[in-house]
Amino acid sequence: MEKVYILDTTLRDGAQSPLVSFTPQEKVEMAKALDALNVDVIDCGYPALNKEERESVELIAEAVKRPVLSVLSKCDEKEIEAAKESLRNAQKKRIHLYAPTSEVQLTYLAGLSHKEQLDKVLKSIESAKSDGFEVELTLEDSFRAEKEYLLELAEKAVEKGADIINISDTVGIAIPSMVKELISELKAVVKDKAILSIHCHDDLGMATANTMAALEAGARQAHLTLAGVGTRAGNAALEEIAVALKIHGERLGLFTELNLKGLYKTTRIFAKITGYTIPPHKAVVGDSAFTHKVEYMKLAVVRESRTFEVIDPEEVGYPKTRIVLSRYSGKIMFKNKVEELGYQLDDEKLEMAFRKFKELTQKKTEVYDGDIIAIIEDVLLTKPKKVILKSYSIRTGSDEKPEATVVLLVEGEEKRAYSSGDGPVDAAFKAIDEAIGMSGRLLDYRITSVTSGKDALGEVFLKVKFKGKEYTGRAIATDILQASIEAYLNAVNKAL
Ligand code: KIV
Ligand code: ZN
Repeated sequence: MEKVYILDTTLRDGAQSPLVSFTPQEKVEMAKALDALNVDVIDCGYPALNKEERESVELIAEAVKRPVLSVLSKCDEKEIEAAKESLRNAQKKRIHLYAPTSEVQLTYLAGLSHKEQLDKVLKSIESAKSDGFEVELTLEDSFRAEKEYLLELAEKAVEKGADIINISDTVGIAIPSMVKELISELKAVVKDKAILSIHCHDDLGMATANTMAALEAGARQAHLTLAGVGTRAGNAALEEIAVALKIHGERLGLFTELNLKGLYKTTRIFAKITGYTIPPHKAVVGDSAFTHKVEYMKLAVVRESRTFEVIDPEEVGYPKTRIVLSRYSGKIMFKNKVEELGYQLDDEKLEMAFRKFKELTQKKTEVYDGDIIAIIEDVLLTKPKKVILKSYSIRTGSDEKPEATVVLLVEGEEKRAYSSGDGPVDAAFKAIDEAIGMSGRLLDYRITSVTSGKDALGEVFLKVKFKGKEYTGRAIATDILQASIEAYLNAVNKAL
């Protein structure tokens, strides 16, 4: 059996999706979750891009020590320098060089001839490969490149010391037979001198199939993202490849060291941090991925889940839908449940989570695993706050202008403010602005329900601009106005 190395690029390619953004601190939280999922490599970002990217990589390098940390760089001295500097405190470090290879990208993107590009790549490998850095070279847009040129690039790059050659379907144009053919040809050239890797985009909806084809043909590293998020139509989804290799690994002689049980949880952490909505029908981790509506299927699954399910949902950490706890459940039962769900909370966080659970049971009689996961993640992402909500009241109706009064504790000092607004949420946000003396511009506001039922928890995610900078906020509560206010304060606390 041979190992497939999993490189997660949610923090780099995933963050290039218009639907996803992370603050540096959020990137650290996400990197810790990927570490717990046991990915082999974390593609942390692109240090030369801006100050925030550099800061994020530096923070990840301080906090996450087990996996290899990889950062992107053009074949350019200055960028290589920035990449090295950002990872100076990392334990296991990799520079990920990328170079366009197709005619169209060489002409219109790089403005280089074949020879000029080759020279640049080889020079860059030489300077990247020092100070304990591994070097991965991505041959961008490989499937539209001239085959001979691509093979020459790969062969010479390996001679120069590249440790990994990554074949990228940058525009998502390939189909599985093309991938199989190209990887086999590259394998004959690269032999065992470097690891072959695959990076697929999903523009034709084939990213997962193409990644599997590459692995079957000899690639041993896959670039993946959670829920397949990424540029345009996204990338190959980590959870899909993970489960496909679990099911077919024996036949293919392949395995990963991923912690499958963490798949659901890690995807939810990602959704919670970024506000990204996991499509309900998303394979493996979507809310309806294991839900059966048709009666005979339901009955069959109860008798034997394999009748209509490819994997036991619990194997990927999917929460049980049965009622798990109620208002009569005590702290010990709650703690056991938290541990069963795979979380370790310190005493303070456990107390906070238990308090929230008890509040929830006042409003909701049926508490599911999904509710408990939502509470735990909320607590885990909660940082010490400068501004705390003490109370609020809101008046609204079909014939009245909505009005809100909020009472906040701002660094211990009580502040009360009133405002009217276009709606109850708008009035509440304006009242908060008044109380903190800072005005926010709401850019995005989304509300979803966690689990089901009319008493389900509502989760609010929002993005707001304070003093020219964007901040995200999120919160859960059974009352959506309370969740909205808490989410806004979550953003305020980041901005202060
Ligand atoms: O799509 C692509 O080619 C990339 C590379 C930088 C790996 O994201
Ligand atoms: Zn990409």
